[in-house]
Amino acid sequence: MFDAEQIKSDFPILQTTMNDKPLVYLDSAASSQKPRQVIEALRNYYEMENANIHRGIYYLSQKATEKFEKTRIKISNFYNAQCAKAIIFTSGTTESINLVAQSWGRANIHKDDEIVLSVAEHHSNLVPWQMLAKEKSAKLKFITLDDNFQYDLSNLNEIITERTKIVSVSQMSNVTGSIYDVQTIIKRAHEVGAKVMLDGAQGACHLPIHLKNLDVDFYAFSGHKMLGPTGIGILYGKEEILETMPPWMGGGDMIETVGLESSTYAALPAKLEAGTPNIAGVIGLSTAIDYLTKIGLSEIHKHEMDLMDYTLDKIKEIPGITTYLSSDREQRSGVLSFNMDGIHPSDVGTVLDEEGIAIRVGHHCCQPFMKNYDIPGTCRASFYLYNTTEDIDIFIESLWKVHKLFSKFAKVVS
Ligand code: ALA
Repeated sequence: MFDAEQIKSDFPILQTTMNDKPLVYLDSAASSQKPRQVIEALRNYYEMENANIHRGIYYLSQKATEKFEKTRIKISNFYNAQCAKAIIFTSGTTESINLVAQSWGRANIHKDDEIVLSVAEHHSNLVPWQMLAKEKSAKLKFITLDDNFQYDLSNLNEIITERTKIVSVSQMSNVTGSIYDVQTIIKRAHEVGAKVMLDGAQGACHLPIHLKNLDVDFYAFSGHKMLGPTGIGILYGKEEILETMPPWMGGGDMIETVGLESSTYAALPAKLEAGTPNIAGVIGLSTAIDYLTKIGLSEIHKHEMDLMDYTLDKIKEIPGITTYLSSDREQRSGVLSFNMDGIHPSDVGTVLDEEGIAIRVGHHCCQPFMKNYDIPGTCRASFYLYNTTEDIDIFIESLWKVHKLFSKFAKVVS
């Protein structure tokens, strides 16, 4: 039985205050909070087990190595990946995408080749491809959005063509929460021999994922959005593709033999993981996955949908609210972008902050998205497993305060 109150009690920060009000944290799309279990795993590692991995003959080093490598297997099983070797540790989604753009991309993208993205991508799934396209004189093409904040697939065959070498799109929007139809995109891309990368920054923490069934070539996500520490992320790639990729960073751990003039490289996954990795981050992520496994990603998604229904029911009573949300419930998640008529998103965020409520306002690292809709930004509330209907009640009550405050102000200045 899903019990959000019980779950919330596991998160120390959610027992604290912000601006002298009980903290209501509605910014999990930016970063999730961490349960006590993850914080304790980090402390235990640093207090009792700290050592470098893959290098020591002594007990501590071997223990740290074992925990590190067991986490790789755990992640592979949790997301139904091809195998543990296909799981590469990075610092986060951004590094995972840059790794693909710079290693696979530099080796496989040539002049006039086409890279397909969408107009709704956040900056980390745009800029690395812009850099690559510029370097290689390749072309960027974009899937647009329809009126329902879904990828417009009506002209997909014209966008993804024989010239397309890779398609890189998000699985779930960090602005509208839309769960996209990526299966159709993957199928079309594979028909023309293109690779597909999914940006799973939002998807991996909210949706049950079966990487083998998805048949995606690359999948990138971050630990800090799924209850884990910051600075740890994953790149999943099909083993046969990762095998062909040249290393993208040189250094310790990724080598087999090193001479003064040249070196040979280690096998996967080490080939793509240079230097001492974020060992503590991996150990914290391992505990985060245990926590998510215990609750279940399907249950978490269902809870977020229920919270969204509850919120939409109440928010629609407030005059002048515009939401940026799919009309199809099945395509929604726990992310709600909205604007209040005549009130700048930063003003909404500032008043909510005074009430102890953390939301994100602005462009959400998606400037082209905002330009597309000709808006300066949105207010964004995003939910996770620890949010309760009580959080939503406080949020809605505070939005009413914003409405009343600014209506009064509008009367005074008119
Ligand atoms: N991309 C993250 C967000 O949506 C940082 O807030």
